Amino acid sequence: MSQRSKNLPRRSCLSTPGSSDRFLAKAPTVTADFSFLDLEDSVAPKEKVNARAKVVNAIRTLAWDERVLCVRLNAWDTPWTYGDVIEVVGNAGERLDELMLPKVQSAAEVVALDLLLTQVEKRSGLPVGHIGIEAQIETTRGLINVDEICAASPRLETIIFGPADFAASMEMPVLTGGVQIPEYPGDHFNYVFSRILMAGRANGLQVIDGPYLRVKDMEGLRDFSQRTRVLGYDGKWALTPDQVTVLNELYSPTQEQFDRAWAILDAYQQATEGDRKGAVMFGDEMIDEASRKMATKFVTRGTRAGRTRSKG
Ligand code: GLV
Ligand code: MG
Repeated sequence: MSQRSKNLPRRSCLSTPGSSDRFLAKAPTVTADFSFLDLEDSVAPKEKVNARAKVVNAIRTLAWDERVLCVRLNAWDTPWTYGDVIEVVGNAGERLDELMLPKVQSAAEVVALDLLLTQVEKRSGLPVGHIGIEAQIETTRGLINVDEICAASPRLETIIFGPADFAASMEMPVLTGGVQIPEYPGDHFNYVFSRILMAGRANGLQVIDGPYLRVKDMEGLRDFSQRTRVLGYDGKWALTPDQVTVLNELYSPTQEQFDRAWAILDAYQQATEGDRKGAVMFGDEMIDEASRKMATKFVTRGTRAGRTRSKG
């Protein structure tokens, strides 16, 4: 696991096709928390091999600020995975934080990447364990095995839902992944979102939702993102700079929530340490140890997003 990136925010995770010099040059100018340079589904098969050098060049030469920097590999069921790892990790240098492994179906796929990474790190002079792993759950088999996948390697930093591939794997009768299905009475992905979230949290991972493909529909994006935001996801993929702006706002606690969380922590500390009470009134609510845990999560998330406590 990369010590640098494990706890950095991932409210907006910007996808950039690794075969496009133009999009690669633009990516660092977009204020995303996280950028991933894609070698997988946004790159045509005939460009797969050429894209590796473009991605390496972008990592080495562009100014990436503090964001998490990641490359998405091709999945293990293609001919490209090992070459992606050797060429990218072998040449990118220390600025590369993570690799994303798509369509993960079993814990063994994560272990295989971990082992290969250790060899490539040793050979290229990187500290062993430098590169973190992000695993995408986007097949039915992957979801069935999500608990083992999330526990498969200390390099894992996040677990990510891939709604488009998942809809295909489920054989859902839809042509756009990651959007609401109006005919369905409820949220057709609620079980999947919750299942992935529980497996991720049980293993200390950040949990990320995938893309919203109607890239011009900002209201639709806001509406659909509420589902994972409210459950507790850390962020979501972005395909455009406008989507980044919406997601940075949406996945941050508001200033009011952040200040209230701090006030709960102060009140609870006074109650337990000063007054030796385990449960006290906070305004018109009773707070106790569970309230402290909830408030701590808000403070961590807000601090990660750059919030500071209001004065007075
Ligand atoms: C992302 O990779 C998806 O399949 O939705
Ligand atoms: Mg996918």
